[in-house]
Amino acid sequence: MTESGASSEPEVVLVLDFGSQYTQLIGRRVRELGVYSEIVPFSTPVDRIRARRPRALILSGGPRSVYEEGAPRCDPAILELGLPILGICYGVQLMAHFLGGEVAPSDRREYGAAQLEVIGESPLFAGLPREMTVWMSHGDEVRRPPEGFRILARTDRSIGAIAHPERGLYGVQFHPEVAHTPYGREILRRFLFDIAGCRGQWRLSAFIESTIARIRKEVGSGRALCALSGGVDSSVAAALVARAIGSRLIGLFVDNGLLRKGEFEEVLHAYERMGMRVHGVRAGERFLHRLRGVTDPEQKRKVIGAEFIAVFREEAVRLGPIEFLVQGTTYPDVIESTSVRGPSAVIKSHHNVGGLPERLGFRLIEPLRELFKDEVREVGRQLGVPREILERHPFPGPGLAVRVLGEVTPQRLAIVRAADAIVVEEIRRAGLYEQVWQAFAVLLPVSSVGVMGDERTYEQTIAIRIVSSVDGMTADWVRVPYEVLERMANRIVSEVRGVNRVVYDISSKPPSTIEWE
Ligand code: XMP
Repeated sequence: MTESGASSEPEVVLVLDFGSQYTQLIGRRVRELGVYSEIVPFSTPVDRIRARRPRALILSGGPRSVYEEGAPRCDPAILELGLPILGICYGVQLMAHFLGGEVAPSDRREYGAAQLEVIGESPLFAGLPREMTVWMSHGDEVRRPPEGFRILARTDRSIGAIAHPERGLYGVQFHPEVAHTPYGREILRRFLFDIAGCRGQWRLSAFIESTIARIRKEVGSGRALCALSGGVDSSVAAALVARAIGSRLIGLFVDNGLLRKGEFEEVLHAYERMGMRVHGVRAGERFLHRLRGVTDPEQKRKVIGAEFIAVFREEAVRLGPIEFLVQGTTYPDVIESTSVRGPSAVIKSHHNVGGLPERLGFRLIEPLRELFKDEVREVGRQLGVPREILERHPFPGPGLAVRVLGEVTPQRLAIVRAADAIVVEEIRRAGLYEQVWQAFAVLLPVSSVGVMGDERTYEQTIAIRIVSSVDGMTADWVRVPYEVLERMANRIVSEVRGVNRVVYDISSKPPSTIEWE
């Protein structure tokens, strides 16, 4: 199921990725306008691009200089395909460089908001104000456009946009995809619809229907297995496949003894309400047994991963012949590992079941492979996946084991689980749960002196970690109101036996990570 879900909808726009931090955003914006888009590595061979029959191409930005050795370059033949092309930042510089224009370092780096002045008439800016704010982020610029190109817009420092309308080649130095370019969406709309002739009929609902039909056809009368984690991706993937093949999809939800308080029951119950056939497997003891004496974080992950595979394999055998395995791989998982680093890079496999498909001879179904996270949520919403699953904070596969620093014992797990429940309860009560990326407790391997009543205590420390993030790649600590932190700390110390001190983690990522291990 790795073919495009839009294969029955031929309208696709390819975004060539030259490494910009905004590449994914370009893909999103195009889809928001109803045009299916895919991000492909800049090195994609021209034949492969032609075979995909795109309506248009967008060349993304990127951090390098086009004239630098080793800078990412697409095949210049791409410009000869006769397709409308929009180059953004590095993309326009590369276009200019290939076609004989001049690209050079700017006298001063242009970064942030700039005033763009539109010159003359062009479909790219038709009906828009002659002056607008745009977002710039470049060290190089197109000094002289290639022959046959016109300058469409300028800032007081640089050329803002160029075009060769007869060839359908357009380029902008600024970033239309970011929110700081207020008319950016309109500019993209004009490129896609007025210049490239797109119709904009791609909708998630159509994606859902065509995916369900495709899964039905592929699976036939076969059966599929899905390892569920209670998280958004695996749950939505399973819901989609269940819609296609009903109870021939079997979900597996493993209690590895490292889940949060009440999680096993709550999640199973939610799946039940969705009408999905899910086996809950209580395997906590065997995981904890394997974790005895293990303190190294990576070793913990390995032990848990291996044990998960063992459980999964046993269950798969027990459940009888199953041909297909459903995974909730999403688009960022796919492109993070394939884009600029090149097609040879390994595609990230699902944390928990990596390597399983090959070993057990499964055929893979990855129905979300083409979707971004918020599209996955929307699909979930349309399929009736409960909100409590869709809005659930991400939770690492190795669970609470990486939030108990040092050895994982039942006693230490009980402490972190109780403290974690308080953190989550209080963040919910403050109405902040859905606004933060994650909120959780970590048990530190540190004891310190305290005093309770008249008694001196020597007990353990809980760290509270609450972060905001867009994708988990970077994160910031949340400025939670003191009163909320106070309630959390008071409750943890008074309700959780063995803890006499609570600290708040004020590190951002980078340089720290979100999890402590
Ligand atoms: P870090 O700690 O790397 O975490 O900043 C980034 C995001 O990934 C989650 N995470 C994991 N998820 N298996 C998972 O399934 C893991 O081993 C794992 N480690 C971290 C983390 O919760 C955060 O959302």
